[in-house]
Amino acid sequence: MGADPRTALRIRESRSPAALAGRGALVTGASSGIGQAVALRLAEAGASVLATGRDHDALARLVKGADELGLAVHHHAADITRPADRAFLAGAARGELPNLAILVHSAGLYHRGPIAETSLAELDRLLDVTVRASYALTRTLLPDLIEATGDVVFINSTQGLAAGPEVGAYAAAKQALRAIADSLRVEVAADGVRVCSVFPGRTATPMQQQIFAAEGRRWNADVLVDPDDIAVAVTTAVTLPPRTTVTEMVVRPTRRLDPPPRAVP
Ligand SMILES: NC(=O)c1ccc[n+]([C@@H]2O[C@H](COP(=O)([O-])OP(=O)(O)OC[C@H]3O[C@@H](n4cnc5c(N)ncnc54)[C@H](OP(=O)(O)O)[C@@H]3O)[C@@H](O)[C@H]2O)c1
Repeated sequence: MGADPRTALRIRESRSPAALAGRGALVTGASSGIGQAVALRLAEAGASVLATGRDHDALARLVKGADELGLAVHHHAADITRPADRAFLAGAARGELPNLAILVHSAGLYHRGPIAETSLAELDRLLDVTVRASYALTRTLLPDLIEATGDVVFINSTQGLAAGPEVGAYAAAKQALRAIADSLRVEVAADGVRVCSVFPGRTATPMQQQIFAAEGRRWNADVLVDPDDIAVAVTTAVTLPPRTTVTEMVVRPTRRLDPPPRAVP
């Protein structure tokens, strides 16, 4: 399987003038879900995209699918929690993209459980990917993004706005990510760099499939946000005129989900 066929079809139908021609984009979490959709939409808008994640085969399928659509996506597998992998990615982004102008942080992990049952190790795992890796990668690439008067996009979560029960560790990581975005936005505004946080509600990705399974729900993508909808929103934000910044976007399913079935004791 290459790129998501539904996304591919819509891209074919909506090819538009290349607003991002000459711009390079590094997209983390691009081996799956939202990141994959963002990689395709940015490429459709004319960007040269470097897609990354740990799963080499999934990235290769994305690149093949993109190639079939005539889109410029290439990939490097990397674990962004490893400093050496981040340094490699930064070098690749500098060496292989025309100019690094867009950095999209979509890599993420999910954990559900009450705080009483969520270990420090689990908290650290979430903080490592969501907070430390994004923070470090942003710092490393900031001079390039300033040079290109670029964009930084953080894929956050509605839990990054207000935490519900049993997601304390996940929400803590996402609220920290929002804080980083908020500070950065003000710090780099004078350089013309835009910083956008996107707060998706439930979106039809493998991560959400796992959440549905844990809740005992039957999978139904039709009641969820489509990852491509997030990708279109991100692409809109980064193709607006430089004078305008979309600071935050909350993107939720229109319909409310029914309560989950009662857990079987
Ligand atoms: N789906 C939703 O309902 C939803 C709602 C709100 C927010 N979000 C957020 O949206 C973002 C994308 O999630 P998704 O739903 O698209 O989930 P997904 O399909 O599970 O994708 C997660 C991505 O993160 C990457 N990743 C995880 N750990 C990594 C690591 N150590 N190094 C490099 N890459 C890593 C995964 O790549 P590999 O496995 O290849 O490493 C994968 O590409 C996440 O930040 C998530 O919190 C999702």
